Amino acid sequence: MHRVRADALRLGHIQTPVLFGLIEGGLTLPSLAKGPRFFKAFPESKGLRVSANISDLAGFNLPQVVIDAWLVQYPGGLNALQLSAVNDHRILDGQSLLVVAPTSSGKTFIGEMAAAAAITDQRKAVFLFPYKALVNEKYDQFLAIYGERLGMRVIRCTGDYADQAQAFFRGKYDLAVLTYEMFLNLSLNHPATLDVLGLVVVDEVQFIADPRRGIAVELLLTHLLAARERGVAPQIIALSAVIGGLNDFDTWLGAEKLVSTSRPIPLVEGVLSRSGLYRYLNADGSEARVQLVPNSAIVQRKDNPGAQDVIVPLVRALLAANPTERVIIFRNARGPAEGCARYLAADLGLPSASTIAERLPNSDLSSTSRALRECLDGGTAFHTANLSRGERVVIEQAFRDRNGIVRVLAATTTVAAGINTPASTVILAEQEFIGEENQPFTIAEYKNMAGRAGRVGYNETGRAIILADTANEQEALFRRYVLGKPEALRSSFDPDHLETWILRLLAQARRVPREEVVRLLASTYGGYVASKGNPGWQSSIAGRLAQLLAQMLRLGLAEEELGFVKLTLLGQACGRSSLSFQSAMRLVSILQALKSQGMTAEKLMVAIQALPELDDVYTPLMKKGQAENKWPQRLQQQFDEPLVRALQAQAHDQLAYCARCKRATILKWWISGVPVDMIEKDATTNPYQGRISSGDIRRFADATRFHLRPAYDIATILLLGTAPPIEEMDSLLCQLELGLPADCLDLLRLGIPLERGEYLSLRTANLKTCDQLWKATDSLLRQSLGQQRIAELNRLRPNILVGE
Ligand SMILES: Nc1ncnc2c1ncn2[C@@H]1O[C@H](COP(=O)(O)OP(=O)(O)OP(=O)(O)O)[C@@H](O)[C@H]1O
Ligand SMILES: [Mg+2]
Repeated sequence: MHRVRADALRLGHIQTPVLFGLIEGGLTLPSLAKGPRFFKAFPESKGLRVSANISDLAGFNLPQVVIDAWLVQYPGGLNALQLSAVNDHRILDGQSLLVVAPTSSGKTFIGEMAAAAAITDQRKAVFLFPYKALVNEKYDQFLAIYGERLGMRVIRCTGDYADQAQAFFRGKYDLAVLTYEMFLNLSLNHPATLDVLGLVVVDEVQFIADPRRGIAVELLLTHLLAARERGVAPQIIALSAVIGGLNDFDTWLGAEKLVSTSRPIPLVEGVLSRSGLYRYLNADGSEARVQLVPNSAIVQRKDNPGAQDVIVPLVRALLAANPTERVIIFRNARGPAEGCARYLAADLGLPSASTIAERLPNSDLSSTSRALRECLDGGTAFHTANLSRGERVVIEQAFRDRNGIVRVLAATTTVAAGINTPASTVILAEQEFIGEENQPFTIAEYKNMAGRAGRVGYNETGRAIILADTANEQEALFRRYVLGKPEALRSSFDPDHLETWILRLLAQARRVPREEVVRLLASTYGGYVASKGNPGWQSSIAGRLAQLLAQMLRLGLAEEELGFVKLTLLGQACGRSSLSFQSAMRLVSILQALKSQGMTAEKLMVAIQALPELDDVYTPLMKKGQAENKWPQRLQQQFDEPLVRALQAQAHDQLAYCARCKRATILKWWISGVPVDMIEKDATTNPYQGRISSGDIRRFADATRFHLRPAYDIATILLLGTAPPIEEMDSLLCQLELGLPADCLDLLRLGIPLERGEYLSLRTANLKTCDQLWKATDSLLRQSLGQQRIAELNRLRPNILVGE
């Protein structure tokens, strides 16, 4: 500025240059990316091909530190799938790719390589996963490799209090790991977050077909693809487990495809009859039979023949035949999984795994925690939703340990999906999910469970065993599952829920010409496939769409101006939420009815129990008799009568109403800090039907938490000034996550997460804030905490005091 002024003066002019705006941080030069002109000048570098040796990747300008870290991790080098992604599909040159390959074939690392390339290029990379547990697992891994050693900024968002959502929408990260729903939600509320993305890796993308969760995957991809219109086109890498056919998914994504059926460890699949004869398919496709269990060992133990009669001698035979054997028995519900681990512990006479039990969290124990200890005593374990997060981690590690003592794990099918607990043999005792629908497993679901068998670097071949009761059943199961081909990929779009899709698509667009609303639908994967199969599809739904738009205008969800349709504020809040159209409308009418009563965060937590999404949360109940009728009254001891009555809205029947009141009461106990075993006891009406376990409590809390935030957004628009303040809502979300009263949440700032029981006993000792805790003597702390924990805290204590 000084020189400009001086030069201008010399020429006889007065100039006053001014610097506008701010520059944050230091000056960085953009890294120069190779483009078409570069490749024209240096044709030899176009399409660099590498060998399996990881050192070759240096040719893609990846930092040496990253390559060194990978060399240590995978001394054997890239596998064939990874090599093909690099050489044939150019993922390190920014090409989008859909990878379909069996379990354990190393798909994640394809995403990781692309992420490293993107980050080196100063582009941000995002990894999306279906489950929180997976996000946490990958976050820990990525943080250890890329964060701590290489200085990349790794963050995660799953909807928990430890989230780094702020960093995400400020772009202060290099690698972000999120759940699908979290990413969809953040990118809708802050569309600019998409502008800075260089790479999006969507793992387990076959979830797009899931009736409940598929919509989030499809909407987030649609949103990403639509951003291309404004010049935002991040590389997309979609990773899928085995599916039967792509059904144009790759074309819709604009990605290349890499499909592989070869497994790193061959898999033998078959069906075992009650006579102990195993009919199986070798990895080379040939069929064979073997007497896996002596017929004489299979004896009926109870009044009726049961799976136990076969499972006990089968597991005994497997363990005896192979000293490195690891068996997972999949069961379709928590009860059978826990029961199975119990009888195996009792019958097999395995060495005790009590050393593992010592590593388990030991406060706020549930009935399940006690059962788990009994199983470990007999050398087995189980993995179900009834385990706390801390318990799950211990069990997964114990089972993964190469020389570990726990060789037998009974697990529920739903929980085990995607978690890295490989086994040598997988046993499938049932062929259907238990629940409202009693749906049999799809072939893809079966293949993915069976695919868990076979551990890289441990055993030569994996084995999957389905149990059959009769010879006919053996034949049928063999045909359906072993010989079956998985279903093709499809959209979860359901024309019966057109209104939900339209509302959520409109929430992605600012303003749409009325006649083009139908194009929004056509831009989804479902719409793309439907239009392709039937060119008249768009006009065939135009009539229904017009009706729907009229309805939305009437309900005040949308407004129209000069031929353009856009959502109102209320419409946007509904459209960005996780709630269906019907559900959002029900919430609006409940809130309107309760408007004059005054709303608090806790009351909103109760009110949303009347929404269809929460009705769908399985709530154990004693169906016979009147026993469950007590819940509305119980709830009324804590909340006012109009609120309790509001839970009757559109209830199917009295039992559904009682279920809503039961969930709300349990949640109130949970956030008041009632010990988990007491909640289990007080909420269980009958131990044989409608038993409430720790997993149920956490499931109610998680589902409520998931829908509470969007419900709150709707409430703030409807209730204006009378909506509860955001701090109250944040605090309640935290309480629901951890099961803690609001008055001890200050302890979350300690710097290490404690177990629920530890927080609660500190609270009982009147140590509710960090300040109080740091001032407490060791002998006072010993009343609430174990020696190890106190030592951990003491390591933190001086720093904090000095800091303050
Ligand atoms: N090149 C490699 N050499 C050796 N091990 C590898 C290689 N690539 C990946 N692995 C290991 O193989 C295991 C399975 O990899 P990964 O979890 O990526 O499989 P996946 O294809 O995503 O399977 P899933 O469908 O179960 O998610 C991991 O433990 C991973 O560290
Ligand atoms: Mg994977």
